[in-house]
Amino acid sequence: MSPDPSFDLNLEGLRRALDLLDARKDSEGPRGGLPNVLPETGLGEAEALERLAPDVLGRAADLGASEAMAHMDPPTPWITWALALWNARLNQNLLHPATAPFARHAEACAVDWLTPFFGMNGGHMTPGSSVANLTALWAARDLRGVKTVVASSASHLSVRKAARILGLPYVEVGVDQGHRLDPAALPHDLSDACLVLTAGTTSVGAVDPLECCGRAAWTHIDAAWAGPLALSDQYRSVLSGVDQADSVAVSAHKMFFQPKESALVMFRETEAAHGAISFGGAYLAAPNIGVQGSYGAAATLLLATLLAWGREGVAARIERCMDNARRLQAFIAAHPDLECFPDGGTGVTVFRPAPDRTDAFRADLPQGLASSAIIGGDAWLRCVSANPNADMERIIAAIDKACRRTSA
Ligand SMILES: Cc1ncc(COP(=O)(O)O)c(C=O)c1O
Repeated sequence: MSPDPSFDLNLEGLRRALDLLDARKDSEGPRGGLPNVLPETGLGEAEALERLAPDVLGRAADLGASEAMAHMDPPTPWITWALALWNARLNQNLLHPATAPFARHAEACAVDWLTPFFGMNGGHMTPGSSVANLTALWAARDLRGVKTVVASSASHLSVRKAARILGLPYVEVGVDQGHRLDPAALPHDLSDACLVLTAGTTSVGAVDPLECCGRAAWTHIDAAWAGPLALSDQYRSVLSGVDQADSVAVSAHKMFFQPKESALVMFRETEAAHGAISFGGAYLAAPNIGVQGSYGAAATLLLATLLAWGREGVAARIERCMDNARRLQAFIAAHPDLECFPDGGTGVTVFRPAPDRTDAFRADLPQGLASSAIIGGDAWLRCVSANPNADMERIIAAIDKACRRTSA
């Protein structure tokens, strides 16, 4: 039987895929129209690509567009696209050292390069910070015997989810006006608790008082959003105290500009933490560490980006995002018709028209410029600085125009 060419390198097909990607903004052709049931006979790869391009490429937000500022999802550098293609071809499984000797090394290397910025001594990659938070809380429970999870009312829902999965009661603590955990509201006795502090809350980008590290049996810092600031000389101080944590979660698919799914969970005492969350299996040559079983080589994309840009290059892009946020905040603070939520200092700008007409105002803004956030029952708008290519002149002009139109 002759080999199936579907598994061969098809340069013509891949070049066409690149051409379609290149033309994505004006992707033409009929959209939708997918069969309701699995087709008995396939279209073939070339035809399937053409059929899907208008939907897959044409119906996706452009996260690197000049007015894109709505979410924590960044545009990704092209080097990661190249590595993603290699990964799909190789389909390495990092669970098995024999299939992925270099990819496993790449993960160890990326982790080794990044952990010193957080004062941690190791860790591993996860598909996101939800899983990183779960992994850290699992280690806290099984290594330190914690019996409750304590976090602020502004912490990410993944912390509550993790507590539920692990069967640990969740204790919610109040926040101050800027949405930072209020240390005075912490339970007196944290000797059998895991305290979760957030560095960059999802709604407003607030950083909890990290000096509370060490007050509980285990302190985990959820730095999904603000963690990458550790690489910037200018903004590192936002994370001051992070090195006192027992574990830290950071999403690389946020401000490290990685495609999903890419994040890290890091530990201060990695050997012990990994030991508590590892399983051996008859089919395994190395222990399976953490929540995932089989997992892919997202690490090679992160490593390639770090190698291509170096610390300075990563920091420069983060700083561009942060400068954009500062410009936006200065504009909003000076605008007589806009109200700004206290700045969390991590590039999330929350504002609304005063008096409140947020829904009409948002409808008047270009798509992808702002998302909505309900805070204390009130509707606010939220711009997140994850796009180094955001054009602040245009964004500020669009907000100003919406202000004038909706107040007229
Ligand atoms: C503070 C915080 N923690 C955790 C998460 C979950 O991260 P992921 O979406 O990578 O699972 C998010 C996501 O936005 C977040 O903002």
